[in-house]
Amino acid sequence: MRILVVGSGAREHTIVWKLSQSPKVKALYTAPGNAGTARIAENLDIAANDIKSLAKAAQQKNIDLVVVGPEVPLAEGIVDHFESIGIPIFGASKLAAEIESSKVFSKSLMQKYNIPCAKSISFSDFSAAKEYVQKQKPPVVIKADGLAAGKGVVVAATIDEAIAALTDFMQGKKLGVAANQVLVEDFMKGREMSFFAFSDGTTVLPLVSACDYKRVNDGDRGPNTGGMGSYSPPVFNTPALQKKIMETIMLPTIQAMAKEGRQYRSILYGGLMVDKDNVRVVEFNARFGDPETQVILPRLKTDLVDIILAVVKGKLSQTKIETTEDACVGVVLASGGYPDSYKTGFPISGLLDVDKDVMVFHAGTKVGATPWEVLTNGGRVLTVVAMGKSLAEARAKAYDNASRITFEGCHYRKDIALFK
Ligand code: GLY
Repeated sequence: MRILVVGSGAREHTIVWKLSQSPKVKALYTAPGNAGTARIAENLDIAANDIKSLAKAAQQKNIDLVVVGPEVPLAEGIVDHFESIGIPIFGASKLAAEIESSKVFSKSLMQKYNIPCAKSISFSDFSAAKEYVQKQKPPVVIKADGLAAGKGVVVAATIDEAIAALTDFMQGKKLGVAANQVLVEDFMKGREMSFFAFSDGTTVLPLVSACDYKRVNDGDRGPNTGGMGSYSPPVFNTPALQKKIMETIMLPTIQAMAKEGRQYRSILYGGLMVDKDNVRVVEFNARFGDPETQVILPRLKTDLVDIILAVVKGKLSQTKIETTEDACVGVVLASGGYPDSYKTGFPISGLLDVDKDVMVFHAGTKVGATPWEVLTNGGRVLTVVAMGKSLAEARAKAYDNASRITFEGCHYRKDIALFK
């Protein structure tokens, strides 16, 4: 098969890496990719949301299957477009992707079908939202309706902070049209977990779950980022909890989407809040997570091409998903200054010094003046991923190897998968 993966992050590098292990794959392309994908696939210089150019390139390269990484092209209808020209594609349709691209839609779906989530009210009028917030007990959660690259959620510790967030979103237009509507939600306490399941619209099969770290500094301090690391499996995801999540969240959501005429054929990512045996949805995403993909795909034993084809062809009931019990830890190496402003173009050294069984998934990297020179090219630069018989073993290995890689300004959290 000739496969095109759309995107340029470490998530997409991991997908390409996993696909490259399939005996069914003859040629791999990434658009636009990075220096890591360039080593195992051919990078095409096309932006991930330039749907028309991607379609043209796919036709020219006789692509048999497209796999979409990020949310923006999904929300813009990449799947609908490729289906209309007869090229098989793995991803949620525009209507199905609204489970992520419209928090108002997603919440109304959960409320209509009794899928457990926090109490929440949507507003398009600032004064009404402010009046409602003033009557709440903090903490209060303010969420923008649309896609906001991780900047659309504020957990406000005080009512003043909540009003400031509403003002930024609705009056300051900090997020543009993404905040034309906002949700004001009750705060949920507990531990967050990212739960993944494949669906062909009818059958739902769980993959392994993971936890990610959103804040830039150790101890969950500092500003939010795209994700500074992750580990799998979450220590608190018991078989009983997994069963409950499937029965009360994942299956009912897929059934609800079908009833609403939004058949969901892709990977469904449930961002969940677990408080003892109580589990509720924080949000849904219509794609693989980043940095979770970097620690879940190394645990997948089944050929990813087989799973993806079963999803695309509606034959998931005939597929089994096998995973390893081994644990996996990923540490994100970021540019100095990230998530605020940062400089790029610095040489990365030590990439060849990592152990053979350690994976280094690239995100913000590009090939330098010579094919073996790799330069920084983004905020999150690399995810260093190791496996082990336990999380402690995987963690020790990931950090030992991460310390061998250097570039100017490089920083990373030291507490990924550290349990005190
Ligand atoms: N791990 C957060 C995300 O992928 O959105």
